Amino acid sequence: MSKKYEIAVIPGDGTGPEVVAEGIKVIEAVAAKCNIGFQFSTYDIGGEHYLTTGETISDQLLDSLAQKDAIFLGAIGHPEVQPGVLEKGILLKTRFALDQYINLRPVKLYEGVYTPLKDKGAEHIDFVVVRENTEGIYAGAGGVLKRGTPDEIATQESINTRKGVERCIRYAFEYCRTRNKAKKLTLCGKTNVLTYAFDLWERAFYEVAQEYPDIETDYAHIDALCMWMVKNPEWFDVIVTDNMFGDIISDLGAMIQGGMGIAAGANINPAGVSMFEPIGGSAPKYTGQQKINPIAAILAAQLMLDTIGEKKGATFVDAAVAKVLREDIKDVAAGKMGHSTQEVGDLVVDYINKNC
Ligand code: IPM
Ligand code: MN
Repeated sequence: MSKKYEIAVIPGDGTGPEVVAEGIKVIEAVAAKCNIGFQFSTYDIGGEHYLTTGETISDQLLDSLAQKDAIFLGAIGHPEVQPGVLEKGILLKTRFALDQYINLRPVKLYEGVYTPLKDKGAEHIDFVVVRENTEGIYAGAGGVLKRGTPDEIATQESINTRKGVERCIRYAFEYCRTRNKAKKLTLCGKTNVLTYAFDLWERAFYEVAQEYPDIETDYAHIDALCMWMVKNPEWFDVIVTDNMFGDIISDLGAMIQGGMGIAAGANINPAGVSMFEPIGGSAPKYTGQQKINPIAAILAAQLMLDTIGEKKGATFVDAAVAKVLREDIKDVAAGKMGHSTQEVGDLVVDYINKNC
């Protein structure tokens, strides 16, 4: 065996464990084909754990996660936990603590998958959003005064450091080069209104661009970019943007690629430990029913393979998913696949076993 990876698995809440199981099955099929090894350790983190222990994620747990090669996450979210507690206490805390400064969201329409965009097909929708993942409005700067009174004041500031912006932009240029498709990087901002933050972004963007003469550069305001993602998604190859705009366009992207059953994301620290997740929620009402599409989790596993350097394994998963979506699944939506969660995982594994 050439290499052994240690993976932290956080199955999480609701349907998280069901989809994570399928992702692991696929990783194991790839491991056998590529002569690599994976050791999985499961971490009990999430809404259930919070309700019984009052703990979101401890420093000790974070230290332990920091020792792994990667983290594979199912879903975090519980109907009985107040909104914000788990998001901030687990997801954002991990991103910040492990300095996962890139949120990578591929938006790819596979053949056989329905897109709500009229007259658009797989040949039109294939781009990647590179979202800054540790700064912007998400940094938590700001505060509240006189809360609950008529004089209440709330501020929420966007933090943009030259270092944070530049490393994100540089990652996007590198990614665009390696991806080797249209070789076009679009900066998404709002330079006409957010004249401090996006001035910094714009200067950093065009300075770094000097180092990448092979990459075409483009700029779009966030509002216009939303229009074009719907009207002309084929214009995009790689988009780089700040945390909040990236959050929003990632969900728009998820919808045009077929929805939450398909969409996967990576929280990447290129020099550290990255975390991979299907971007849909915990879908509590479907828990234990084997109705959720595991393809998003399987594509999160694919992103993990790609990011840790197992490129061949990643292409196997991509080919298998493409075949299963094209030929085997009726509809990507939960309960409409014509197969159970497990059966979809089996179909992907079968393809890898027989064809890769
Ligand atoms: C995402 C999610 C998170 C975010 C939430 C759950 C905190 O929407 O990963 O995009 O806003 O970043
Ligand atoms: Mn989001």
